[in-house]
Amino acid sequence: MANEIGRRSFVAAAMMAAPAVQKARGQSGKINVGWIGMGGRGYHCMNVSHDGNKDKVHVVSVCDTYKGNLARAKDRVQTLWGNSPKTTADYREILADPSVDAVFIMTPEHLHYPMMLAALKAKKHVYVEKPLAHTIEEGAELVKAARAAGKIVQVGTQNRSSKLYQRAKEMVAQGMIGDIHYVRAFWYRNSPNETPAWRYNIPADASPENTDWAKFLEGAPKREFDLRRYYQWRLYWDYSGGISTDLLVHQTDITNFVLGKTVPLSCVASGGIYRWTDANDDREVPDTFSAIYDYADKFHLNYSCYFGNDHYGYGEQFCGNEGTIEVLNRQDLHFYPQLLRGAAPAHVKARQEIHLNGPRDFGEPDGLKTHITNFIEAVRGNEKPVAPVEAGHQAAISGHLATLSFKNGRKVIWDEKTEKSRFA
Ligand SMILES: NC(=O)c1ccc[n+]([C@@H]2O[C@H](COP(=O)([O-])OP(=O)(O)OC[C@H]3O[C@@H](n4cnc5c(N)ncnc54)[C@H](O)[C@@H]3O)[C@@H](O)[C@H]2O)c1
Repeated sequence: MANEIGRRSFVAAAMMAAPAVQKARGQSGKINVGWIGMGGRGYHCMNVSHDGNKDKVHVVSVCDTYKGNLARAKDRVQTLWGNSPKTTADYREILADPSVDAVFIMTPEHLHYPMMLAALKAKKHVYVEKPLAHTIEEGAELVKAARAAGKIVQVGTQNRSSKLYQRAKEMVAQGMIGDIHYVRAFWYRNSPNETPAWRYNIPADASPENTDWAKFLEGAPKREFDLRRYYQWRLYWDYSGGISTDLLVHQTDITNFVLGKTVPLSCVASGGIYRWTDANDDREVPDTFSAIYDYADKFHLNYSCYFGNDHYGYGEQFCGNEGTIEVLNRQDLHFYPQLLRGAAPAHVKARQEIHLNGPRDFGEPDGLKTHITNFIEAVRGNEKPVAPVEAGHQAAISGHLATLSFKNGRKVIWDEKTEKSRFA
């Protein structure tokens, strides 16, 4: 039955049909890249970029404001590629280097906007982590700047490059689940009482001397040096939208991708800080969160996230009147026909259940390697980015609307024409 879906991805076909973009200059056919933000994500993605693309990428420079991560990144480039990259705590130095073709921006959320804006002004291609920006207004400006610059932008919503989600999109297009008015998306996590969510380890040597607090705070309100805020930035509104922009945006994005949606008409969100509420807890973002969205053309998205129980894992359930497709933990796709206790039409009854597993059936742990490759090939003029700036902006709008609703305790209406939100 799985073969019935067809092996050829139409996403890949769309890429083939893409108009060629300006070729990158790069050394000996390689793209010269600068890597900005060498923390958990930056380090991981740089490793993944080497796997399969080592001959297409030349890491010219790395940037981080924590000296420990900068030194680790330099060592890693030397080990993987054999060259010694320039190191800097100031991303503007990378942007001023005319030999750099593209940058990877993997810094905390509030820094995406100033860094990407400056990168586009400096005529660099940009891979930027999700969420595109910290506010809707910043995201809109980045869309304009990207169009004006005419450079390739890939947003780090890598599920779009996963074969499982591409297969889900194909199944939906083929009518396998019929009409779809409803998606349930969820992300559940748990951790021991002693290790609260997002309270990441602070390195023992961390200090004002080997971090750069002023640079970390770019665009954010000024305040005294604070190690928690620097290393655990996801817990504070100045630098993060919490669940809305860290996790939810992946799921609104992939719903848009699979079903051809863009932005919702409205959002109402609710939740709170329910775990780890000891006297020392200064978190601002919720650990328990639900958001309900209505879209045009009679479509509803029901989202929930909780950091106190991970039994159900995470994923999206695309609920059609003829069947259900669910993608769980980025690993498994299930298709179930709606048999209606024997009353389903014959063409629905004829459909068999399908189970696809990413590592087993496609040899991929998730979509990240393909996503990075897609960006590199787009810069080389061979493909079209699967997560362009507009898609990143649309996914982030949903996240920001949820934050607005949560913080104000009110339903938010989104007007796509004026690109403005208002409270109902
Ligand atoms: N696509 C995904 O699945 C995925 C997964 C994890 C993280 N992310 C995203 O990646 C980004 C980074 O997250 P992370 O988990 O790596 O965070 P992190 O805290 O581990 O790393 C951030 C790094 O940025 C550095 N930094 C801070 N200010 C800087 C500045 N002004 N200039 C240069 N470097 C600076 C920090 O020193 C740190 O090394 C976030 O946008 C996050 O949402 C995406």
